[in-house]
Amino acid sequence: MNENEALLDALIEGRLPDDAGRFGPFGGRYVPETLMAAVTRLDEGVRTLLRSAELQARLEAELRDWVGRPTPITPAPALGARWGAEVWLKREDLAHTGAHKINNAIGQALLAQALGARRIVAETGAGQHGVASAAACARVGLPCTVYMGEVDVARQAPNVDRMRRLGAEVVPVTSGDRTLRAAIDEAIRDWVSDPAGTYYLIGSAIGPHPYPYLVRELQAVIGREARAQMIERAALPEAVFACVGGGSNAIGLFHAFLGDRDVRLVGVEAGGRGSGLGDHSATLSAGRPGVLHGNYSMLLYDDDGLIHETHSVSAGLDYPGVGPEHALLKLVGRVDYVTASDDEALAALDECCEAEGILPALESAHALAGARRWAQAHPGARLLVGLSGRGDKDMPILAQYPVRKERSDAAA
Ligand SMILES: Cc1ncc(COP(=O)(O)O)c(C=O)c1O
Repeated sequence: MNENEALLDALIEGRLPDDAGRFGPFGGRYVPETLMAAVTRLDEGVRTLLRSAELQARLEAELRDWVGRPTPITPAPALGARWGAEVWLKREDLAHTGAHKINNAIGQALLAQALGARRIVAETGAGQHGVASAAACARVGLPCTVYMGEVDVARQAPNVDRMRRLGAEVVPVTSGDRTLRAAIDEAIRDWVSDPAGTYYLIGSAIGPHPYPYLVRELQAVIGREARAQMIERAALPEAVFACVGGGSNAIGLFHAFLGDRDVRLVGVEAGGRGSGLGDHSATLSAGRPGVLHGNYSMLLYDDDGLIHETHSVSAGLDYPGVGPEHALLKLVGRVDYVTASDDEALAALDECCEAEGILPALESAHALAGARRWAQAHPGARLLVGLSGRGDKDMPILAQYPVRKERSDAAA
């Protein structure tokens, strides 16, 4: 057995991350001295409290009664007819607050409460994690501050109002790239100032250990459900698709399928408007290893080592890093990572609306675009696509792009 196969086996058997929080060469814990105690305490909390029967029972009840799990899988016959495939959608857009982010937010909010936190800080890009955090904090009765880049405040305005109504304080971040990366910097700065009383509720499978593991554990419910639902309704899919920003919905959907070696797993990153650095956020497809936000993973940085600005039409994919488990899955070749451009995602969004009556999030539209391309190369295949969220939040962006019919009329 070669080294990569041994690493994949270790991951499938639950032996990774190891005690140092590493997924093979990736992951770990790169934080300032002042945060070490908080991160270590969280690690202990994850090992003991998160796995306790009491917290698991509370989480299960909240997922069922409040989040609305299990979310369904929906056959998509019209998309299937267009693509020449059998298409199924895992409907995280039907979860409470409209995206998969809620699974993680309620899980971490319950953990924070069990750890005795007095307040929560969170960051958000597309706003979905901010809304999920605000809702989860209201549910468990903890005050919540959400950092959000100024650019994202403008392009995801409906979610800013939702967060405020749910009782959260939203702090626009004017430094750095004024998107998700700057928001995470600011949330970490806040956490450092009071690591004992503040809990940092991170929104993706990134950050110092144990966050990538914790977020994956909380999101793995998506894949467990989807795998059982596919077997019950049809059979295992031949390929599974999910969009990859930081990677939480993708790792959540993929994890249960890792051991099904015949099932192809495909992560779709934001190809943006071109292949130049700064024109996309395709971290795994175009990045290099390095440290950002507390872990060693694949990143987009320039020849001087400076983290590079990214671009995507979808705020939730606009991040120069990715979770370390994905970096390992790419290294060992278990998951293929491809890109979908802004234009492909917009076209896939329109197609899903027209054909299935479902408005997906722009993030999820990247997964649809990747699946569509794959279907054309594999006629008749059975596909499962993760619909990570709904597209209502994207209406201010979509208003800049006329619907497809109007676009083609204008071009004629
Ligand atoms: C609906 C939706 N899907 C996907 C993402 C990307 O995040 P992740 O890669 O962590 O799932 C986001 C992020 O905000 C989102 O809102």
